[in-house]
Amino acid sequence: MTKLKTLIFFLSIALMFGAISAGVGNAQTSNNIQTFAEDFHSYANPQAVSVTNVDLDWNVLFDQKMIKGTATLSVARNSIDKTAPLVLDTRDLKIEKAETSVDGKTFKKTTFKLGAADKFLGTPLTVQLPPDAKFVRIAYATSPTASGLQWLAPEQTAGKKMPFMFSQAQAIHARSFIPLQDSPQIRVTYSARVRTPKNLLAVMSAEGNSQNSARGGDYKFKMTRPIPPYLIAIAVGDLQFQSLGRRTGVYTEPSMIEKSAFELADTEKMVEATEKIYGAYRWGRYDLLVLPPSFPFGGMENPLLTFATPTILAGDKSLVSLVAHELAHSWSGNLVTNATWRDFWLNEGFTTYLERRIIEAVYGVNRREMEAVLGRRSLEQELFGMETRDQILHVDLKGRDPDEGFTGVPYEKGALFLRHLEETVGREKFDKFVREYFDNFAFQSITTETFVDYLNKNLIAQNPQISLTDVSEWIEKAGLPKNAPQPQSDAFAKVEAQTSRWLKNEITASGIAAKDWTTQEWLHFLTKLPANIGAERMLELDKTFSLTKSGNSEIAFQWLLMGIKNDYAAADSRLEEFLTTIGRRKFVKPLYEELAKTSAGKKRADTIYAKARAGYHPITRASVDTILKREASR
Ligand code: BES
Ligand code: ZN
Repeated sequence: MTKLKTLIFFLSIALMFGAISAGVGNAQTSNNIQTFAEDFHSYANPQAVSVTNVDLDWNVLFDQKMIKGTATLSVARNSIDKTAPLVLDTRDLKIEKAETSVDGKTFKKTTFKLGAADKFLGTPLTVQLPPDAKFVRIAYATSPTASGLQWLAPEQTAGKKMPFMFSQAQAIHARSFIPLQDSPQIRVTYSARVRTPKNLLAVMSAEGNSQNSARGGDYKFKMTRPIPPYLIAIAVGDLQFQSLGRRTGVYTEPSMIEKSAFELADTEKMVEATEKIYGAYRWGRYDLLVLPPSFPFGGMENPLLTFATPTILAGDKSLVSLVAHELAHSWSGNLVTNATWRDFWLNEGFTTYLERRIIEAVYGVNRREMEAVLGRRSLEQELFGMETRDQILHVDLKGRDPDEGFTGVPYEKGALFLRHLEETVGREKFDKFVREYFDNFAFQSITTETFVDYLNKNLIAQNPQISLTDVSEWIEKAGLPKNAPQPQSDAFAKVEAQTSRWLKNEITASGIAAKDWTTQEWLHFLTKLPANIGAERMLELDKTFSLTKSGNSEIAFQWLLMGIKNDYAAADSRLEEFLTTIGRRKFVKPLYEELAKTSAGKKRADTIYAKARAGYHPITRASVDTILKREASR
C-alpha cells in the first residue's frame, strides 16, 4: 500500500470505532455497551432497551382539551437479554393500544401494562417487545388536566378570540403528553405531524415552523439532533412571525408582535456574541415564542424556539437577560445536558454564567455587574431560610419532586463557582476550557462526576492553584464558600448613597437622583430598603415615582411585595390585577406566601386565588395550592 492509502485505511478504521463508541449520543460508553446513570425520576429501563427516535402523529382537540394520536418510538436493545420489555414513563395518559414492528411498516398488537401511579413520577408503562422489534407504536390520549399542557380559553389570550395551547415539559412533564423514556440522559430525535383547527398555527421546538403565517391545520416538524425529552415542545394559537435578523425571529399573537419585535431586537447580536466566545451555534435558526401571561416560567430553552413570558416586555429592553439566558442554553443544557435532575446545576449554573458573559458582551460590564450583584444577593437571602441539603449543587432529590431543585442554588451558586474558576485561572484559559467542554460533550448528557473528572484532567491538572478540596466544597457542601466571588457595582454604590440620605431625611423623595436609573438600579433600590419601611414612606415614593403603576413586571413585583409587608392599601387593587392576569410562578408564589403570613392577608389571598386559579398553569396552581393549603385537585 502507498503511504496515502495506508493512512486512509487507518483513518477509516479509526472513524468506524469512533462511530461505534459514540453510540446514540450518550455520554458514558464502553465496549459499545452504554451505561446510564441512576435516575430517580424515571421508570425507564434504558440499560436494557432505549428509545432513539419519537415520531408523533397528533390531533390537537381544543373542545376536549386533549391531544389524541400515536407516538411511534424507535427502540434499540442494549443488553444481551433479548426478552426485556420496554418500560416507559407516563402520567395521566389513556393508553388505547400498543403495537410493535420490525420494519416500521407492518405493526402487530402487543400487550402492555400500566403500573401504580406515583404522585411525583406518574405511571410506568411496560410494553412486551419481541426480540427483533425495532418500533413500538402507542395510541393514546392526554388527560384534560395533563401537567405538561395548558389549554387557554380565548379570554386568556391577548386577542381574546381564539384558544391557545402550549406545553412545558421540564422537568418531568413530557410524560403527561407523550409516553416515552422521560429521563434527560435519553437522547432522541423526533418528528411530528400535527393537526389543529384550520385557523390556528402550530409551532414546535424543531424545524418546520412556518414564517409566512400560512394556516391550514396540518403541520409537519422534524428535530434532527438528539435531544433530551424535556426539550420536546409545542404551542398552538393565533400566531404571527416577525424576523429579527438573519437567523432569528419572534412568534406571538398579532397584537403583541410589534412590542415583542422591539423588545427582542438585540437577539441576533446576542447569538453572534455567544458564538464568538463559545463556538458555533449548532441548531440552525433561533426563534422566540412570546406566550400569553399564564406561562408559568420566565423562559424555557426549547431548541430552535425559546418559549418566553410576556412579562419581559418592559418597553425598554431592560429585562432581556432572560433572552441571553435561554439562548445560552443552546450550549449549556441543550448541547451538553444534565444526565439526571441532581445534575441540574450543570444546566443552570453554566447558563447563568454564560448569560452574564453575553450581557457583558452586548451591554457592557456595568450592566453585567449589576445583574451579578442582584443575583448573589437574592441567593444569600434564599440560603438564609433553606434546608442545608438543598444548598448543595450536587443535590439529592431522591423521593422528591425534581421541581424542588428549582432554587437559586443551581443558578447563582453554580454561576459563582464558574466565575470563581475564571477568576482563578484567568479569562483566556477558562474560556478555552469551557469552549472545549461544549465540543467534547456536544449532544451528550453528563453527570456531575463526569464533569468533575473532565475538570480535573483539563483545567486543574494544568492549574494547580485550583485545589481539589476547593472544588468539592463548591459542589458537595452547603452554603457559599468563603472564596465566593463578590460582584461589585459602582452604580449601585451611588444608589445606596441616595437611599441612605433619603432614609435619614436629608433629602425628600423628589431629591433622589433617580431620573436616569435603569431597571437594575430600581431593583437594587427597592430590595435594599428596610422591609418594614411603612406605608407612609411608600406613599411618598409612589407620589414621586408612580411605582404602583409601573409596567415593568420585576419592579411592580418588588413593589407589591413591599406593599403587602407594609399594609400599603394604595397598591391593593394593583396587586389583585397583577395576580389575576399574570401566572409566572416566580412572581405569583412569593406574593401569595407573603399574604398568607397574616390572617387578614390569608383571607385576601383566598379571595384573589378563587378568581385567579382557573387561569393559572397546573405548575403554578400546584405551588399556590400548597401555600394556601387547598386540596390539590389536578
Ligand atoms: N430551564 C429553565 C426553566 C425550568 C427549569 C423549567 C426547571 C422547569 C424546570 C429556564 O432556562 C430558566 O431558568 N428560566 C428562568 C429565567 C432565567 C432568566 C433565570 C425563569 O423561568 O425564571
Ligand atoms: Zn435556565
